[in-house]
Amino acid sequence: MSAVYDKNNPFHAKLVERRRLSSAGSLKDTQHFSVSIEGSGLSYTCGYSLGVFPTNNLNAVAALLKATGFSGTESVTIPKDVAAITLKEALTHRLSLNHPTYKFVQFLHDCATDEAQKANLASRIAETDPEKKKSWIEQHEYVDLLIEFSSAKISAQELVEHQRKLMPRLYSISSAPSKYPNEIHLTIAVVRYETNGRKREGVCSTYLAERIELNTPEVPVFVAHSHFGLPADDAVPIIMVGPGTGIAPFRSFVMDRATRGAKGRNWLFFGEQRKDHDFLYADEWADYLKSGVLTRLDLAFSRDQAEKIYVQDRMRENAAELWKWISEGAYFYVCGDAKRMAKDVDAALHQIVSEQGKMSPEEAVEWVKHFKKEGRYQRDVY
Ligand SMILES: Cc1cc2nc3c(=O)[nH]c(=O)nc-3n(C[C@H](O)[C@H](O)[C@H](O)COP(=O)(O)OP(=O)(O)OC[C@H]3O[C@@H](n4cnc5c(N)ncnc54)[C@H](O)[C@@H]3O)c2cc1C
Ligand SMILES: NC(=O)c1ccc[n+]([C@@H]2O[C@H](COP(=O)([O-])OP(=O)(O)OC[C@H]3O[C@@H](n4cnc5c(N)ncnc54)[C@H](OP(=O)(O)O)[C@@H]3O)[C@@H](O)[C@H]2O)c1
Repeated sequence: MSAVYDKNNPFHAKLVERRRLSSAGSLKDTQHFSVSIEGSGLSYTCGYSLGVFPTNNLNAVAALLKATGFSGTESVTIPKDVAAITLKEALTHRLSLNHPTYKFVQFLHDCATDEAQKANLASRIAETDPEKKKSWIEQHEYVDLLIEFSSAKISAQELVEHQRKLMPRLYSISSAPSKYPNEIHLTIAVVRYETNGRKREGVCSTYLAERIELNTPEVPVFVAHSHFGLPADDAVPIIMVGPGTGIAPFRSFVMDRATRGAKGRNWLFFGEQRKDHDFLYADEWADYLKSGVLTRLDLAFSRDQAEKIYVQDRMRENAAELWKWISEGAYFYVCGDAKRMAKDVDAALHQIVSEQGKMSPEEAVEWVKHFKKEGRYQRDVY
């Protein structure tokens, strides 16, 4: 019998496929990944996520070691661990190199011997504008602070005790187990940005995109269960709103219904920046439309015209039809960006319910609450 793999005992999986979904001319880098779970005993359901334990970029580890003057062979013990490991091992696999805290800034202040550096740190700590305070720390990784405030000599153990743990990242599964029982597909936007004049990268998205060799059993993964999923009844219609990487679980839903010959109607709202560069899985949607599996596809390419068009604009344009589907028992799903998109889609849903259902805004709020409680309004947002 194979071992039971979970978050505490991840399976070391092979990445068997990796390809860009956004074109070379895109402003984004969204990629498709396939992870083999063959022989693991792992299984999954549409709507679940895959947890991935990343490894930090070795260049970033080297830069941090250089900034501190440590060799990496120093022995350290991570808080709550029993055994000691080398500093290099801790920085590579166990600790986050990003998101320093003000507790660490205070510690650097206490250790700094250069008066100008000490004063600078004191002024950062004393900052009273919460936005400025938050923004300054977000612009800095550990390496920046250790270079900028180099007079603070700290030990390897003290450094480790101030770092956060390197956490696994979750990714919505974009394949269906009915078609790919031994593979898990992911749809990931590779995170790259600049702060404080330095190029930065997301740890896990670049680990998968750049630092993993194909067909080598090295990616520690686990399957994370979720409340998010298809209706039990295959005849029930579904409405899916998934701009950007929010498309992931809906590729899984539609693939599953197609594979199993489920008869329920499927309506997808997808949005991205530009049709020619960012239309993720365009060929697959074309095939599903042709075969009738996908009943409707409404697209919102935000940057193909002067004014922004978003998925919620398409929802509003189709308010009567959307309300008809909901009245006929449709489930309503939203996946993707939590900060902006999911809030605006929620507001559009409330507006549609109120206008089409002839309800006051207060009644619409109660109606949507009930819709959620019934499990017919589900969100997978991040
Ligand atoms: C349930 C769930 C499902 C998810 N599904 C998906 C999915 O299907 N596809 C997907 O791509 N992601 C998905 N995510 C997000 C994913 O888990 C990771 O958060 C994402 O890949 C970034 O991880 P990273 O390690 O690459 O970046 P990190 O190293 O974690 O860096 C991200 C951090 O960098 C900073 N940052 C990023 N951009 C900027 C900027 N422009 N300016 C300043 N700071 C910035 C922010 O602090 C941000 O928190 C999901 C998350 C959850 C919780
Ligand atoms: N928690 C984390 O650590 C983490 C990490 C990575 C990403 N994320 C979040 O995940 C999101 C997903 O990124 P993604 O690459 O999948 O795509 P995205 O940034 O959500 O973009 C997809 C489409 O949505 C549009 N959009 C922007 N604001 C919107 C709004 N208010 N309502 C509706 N649509 C809107 C974008 O248009 P425009 O770009 O033209 O405005 C684009 O056309 C990111 O925005 C980020 O917030 C979180």
